[in-house]
Amino acid sequence: MKLSLVAAIGRNNELGKNNELIWRFKEDMKFFKETTINHDIIMGRKTFESLPELLKERKHLVLSRSSLIIPEVIIYNDLKQFLEEYKNIDKEVFCIGGANLYSQMIEYASDLYLTEIDEEDNAADAYFPKFDKENYDSNILCNHIDEKTGISFKHVLYKRRTYGKR
Ligand SMILES: NC(=O)c1ccc[n+]([C@@H]2O[C@H](COP(=O)([O-])OP(=O)(O)OC[C@H]3O[C@@H](n4cnc5c(N)ncnc54)[C@H](OP(=O)(O)O)[C@@H]3O)[C@@H](O)[C@H]2O)c1
Repeated sequence: MKLSLVAAIGRNNELGKNNELIWRFKEDMKFFKETTINHDIIMGRKTFESLPELLKERKHLVLSRSSLIIPEVIIYNDLKQFLEEYKNIDKEVFCIGGANLYSQMIEYASDLYLTEIDEEDNAADAYFPKFDKENYDSNILCNHIDEKTGISFKHVLYKRRTYGKR
């Protein structure tokens, strides 16, 4: 398995507030879809609950310590169970959040697809983990200005140079 993280973050690594996204840009939603389509996606239970519906053409894997049963969704009760099950599977899996999941999974991830938004929100209550950019090669994939709000953002791909615990 290759594990990648995909997230949209503010200038201070803001991810969300009140279990919702802070910013929603059409071009970013498109990027998210293009990046994750036809892949398995793993997320925390709270992020899953924040989705309006299942995302098309993606297999949903959800981490929760509760014994949930959700149609078309695979539940893992702990991270090790998922890592063990997927370690020999030849797939790229995308962790799509939230804060709790990114913090636990970043050490296993080789690629980070970050939408870096040139804005901040002091009321955020979920943050992407700080990571050492020295350990990654970065490449700006695209720069955008949102038509509606005028806010700038860019898609940056960070590729890990040296692997940590994997
Ligand atoms: N900007 C972005 O790109 C982006 C992307 C995704 C989410 N978000 C935002 O992030 C926020 C949600 O993040 P969050 O940190 O509060 O929640 P989260 O990571 O989505 O979910 C946390 C839940 O996942 C389960 N979990 C976590 N680690 C586990 C483990 N090792 N084993 C088993 N279950 C585990 C637990 O569920 P149980 O309580 O059921 O046990 C835990 O309460 C929202 O504001 C959302 O909008 C932003």
